Amino acid sequence: MQYRTPFHGLVLSSALFTVLISPSFAQAPKDALSGQVSSSEEGAMEGVVVSAKKDGSTITVSVVTDAKGQFHFPASRLENGRYTLSARAAGYDLDGAPAAVIAGGKTANAAVRLKKTQNLPDQMNNAEWLISMPGTEAHKKLMLNCISCHMMTRIVKSTHDTDGFLAVFERMSGYYPGSTPELPQRLKGDVKRANIRGTSDIRLVGDWLSSVNLSKQKTWNYPLKVLPRLKGASTRVIYTEYDLPRALIQPHDVVLDKDGIVWYSDFGQMFLGRMDPKTGKVTEFPIPVTKQDSPRGTLDLEIDREGKIWVGVMYQASVARFDPKTEKFRIWSIPKEWDSDAAQLGHLAVDGSHVDGKVWIKNSDGSRIYRLDPATGAFEDLGAFMNPMSGNRIGSYGIHSDSKNNLYLLDYSAGYIGKLDAKTKKLTVYATPSPNSRPRRGRVDAQDRIWFAEYYANAVGMLDPATGLIKEWKLSTPWSAPYDAVYDNNGYVWTGSMLTDRVARLDVKSGTYVEYPLPRSTNIRRVALDPNAPSTLWIGNNHGASIVKVEPLD
Ligand code: HEC
Repeated sequence: MQYRTPFHGLVLSSALFTVLISPSFAQAPKDALSGQVSSSEEGAMEGVVVSAKKDGSTITVSVVTDAKGQFHFPASRLENGRYTLSARAAGYDLDGAPAAVIAGGKTANAAVRLKKTQNLPDQMNNAEWLISMPGTEAHKKLMLNCISCHMMTRIVKSTHDTDGFLAVFERMSGYYPGSTPELPQRLKGDVKRANIRGTSDIRLVGDWLSSVNLSKQKTWNYPLKVLPRLKGASTRVIYTEYDLPRALIQPHDVVLDKDGIVWYSDFGQMFLGRMDPKTGKVTEFPIPVTKQDSPRGTLDLEIDREGKIWVGVMYQASVARFDPKTEKFRIWSIPKEWDSDAAQLGHLAVDGSHVDGKVWIKNSDGSRIYRLDPATGAFEDLGAFMNPMSGNRIGSYGIHSDSKNNLYLLDYSAGYIGKLDAKTKKLTVYATPSPNSRPRRGRVDAQDRIWFAEYYANAVGMLDPATGLIKEWKLSTPWSAPYDAVYDNNGYVWTGSMLTDRVARLDVKSGTYVEYPLPRSTNIRRVALDPNAPSTLWIGNNHGASIVKVEPLD
């Protein structure tokens, strides 16, 4: 590397931005690119996410501005080339088109100017709409059932009256869960998902929504509020975002194998994806269709001890196992007599399979729990489980096995965690401190404790089976509605949101979270750790066809 180079000044011919290459130093610089974000409204701005994307690349690197509005891209993260810069701060747009050229081992410098946006509604995330709109907490909570396939924007921009909304609710309940407006799929036959149809005062929900949309007004008659930008520790982070090759890919579960290769399930299509994080290269492996007329797509992705990749193939009523060495799938479909149009095998558990060879599978149709013996292909139906505490059936979402291949059931229909003993087939039920917390997904740690996200209680929970106690940690940002949680064995728990475009890291000892603002709109489901890097998180951008790595600097 050349350390002593003559001074270069490079001024691009736009009044709106400048790029200067600073004088060289006696040593290689720490930063490839640095600069400041400012606006006339605020001056120097903290908590702005600044992104740099090299021309022609599929990889974007982002950092967050500090208290002085400064940002720093480490030299190790940006190779030589021309980069387009962008910035995210709610309420603001870029003023100009900042770019930077990185060359010759010097620190490039860029000034990023922001101006007030003319289009706040399109910048607002789901949480910001829920915060802004008038309405009861109970009604707003129902919207947690409406933001998985598209954003709140569609609802608040619509012009439906009450009856119009009742028809919309009906239509929405007939979509496959991995539908998007870009790739809708109808459920087969007369299968309907509960969604918010079961709500007793459903007309009132229609009345309410038609009072906050544009049916009676040209523009919203309530102030549009955005979340304050995150500051301090939340700015100490670096993101790497990898674009996927097709816009319709929905990377629902993103999981790394022990070699650091990234695998993802595609929620709306029949592919298993593999990505090399060194190059961003993606390979899609087509999964065999077993039920031609049923919706296509996969959800849960798990890696077993042998490194084989398992996916729950949803309404195809099958599970698929992929061998990365031979690059071949094996498919197990449930027995014909158990199958139905509503059969849905989204979730499975393989973490304890080495104990007795069995894989746990859930069929959402009737909340039935199965065990598959992959060696013989035999399925065992353990049936549905009643909850003695509530008298209702356990309606589990995620299922997760412990080191003895016992199974945790996360009761998404209420607020309970069930633990199913693999040997006695007996279920023990624990209530979460918050009622109706709707635990969704999580992970078992090395001590067989289960960490989980409480979608309706804005919290992360943990059940320690040794004491039978559940602890909860509430997120401070309203409408975080976490979907998944994972303990990283260093004392931190990670979670992510489908509503706030934030991920959060809980320090279990102090009970405090640090939230990190994401570079762009990111509908997050599974959160997964990097097995080879401490406290590094990987997530899929379910509506944005990308995979994001989040590395805190502290
Ligand atoms: C399972 C996926 C899914 C869920 C969940 C979902 N939607 Fe939709 N939604 C769609 C799709 C697909 C479209 C585009 C096709 C269409 O309009 O039917 C859409 C479009 C819309 C539109 C715009 C079209 C129109 O008729 O105005 C509105 C409004 C809407 N949805 C409201 C809702 C509400 C309210 C909920 C919660 C009760 C909801 N959606 C839940 C899939 C879903």
